[in-house]
Amino acid sequence: MDSSDYKLLKAQLEALVSGEPDVLANASNFVGLLFDALDNINWMGIYVLRDNGLVLGPFQGKPACVRIPTGKGVCGTAAATLETQRVANVHEFPGHIPCDDVSQSEIVVPLVIDGVLVGVLDIDSPTIGRFSETDQKGIELLCSAFCETQAGKEFI
Ligand code: SME
Repeated sequence: MDSSDYKLLKAQLEALVSGEPDVLANASNFVGLLFDALDNINWMGIYVLRDNGLVLGPFQGKPACVRIPTGKGVCGTAAATLETQRVANVHEFPGHIPCDDVSQSEIVVPLVIDGVLVGVLDIDSPTIGRFSETDQKGIELLCSAFCETQAGKEFI
């Protein structure tokens, strides 16, 4: 997808989740919308920040690991650094946590609402180097839009 596709998807996302107060439903639809729109993806989901780390939330794909400590794996690193982790080859990422053997590349974007980390969005692909810089910017745009539309609502 190019950046104009991501802008179109952002408008669709905002229409889908702005009016609904329940963040669990909105997070589920966010994941469903993006999973359907992106090609060459085998898993996508949100890990929610709880007191003692990340816990599996709404997702599409095979059952995955339920708990990831902050600072561990690609997801925990994104949560600890508050920075997107775009990993071209997961086998070269120190401490990568394998959930689906098919996954070869991965992108994890922190979800921040009103300046507070609430979780991360994790996307896995069966292809090495699946996520380009354009994908990263587009997925970050969508995550920002999602977080802005959920501000003031009780999180999952
Ligand atoms: N690979 C992730 C774990 C989550 S699964 O990909 C669904 C990680 O290293 O944090």
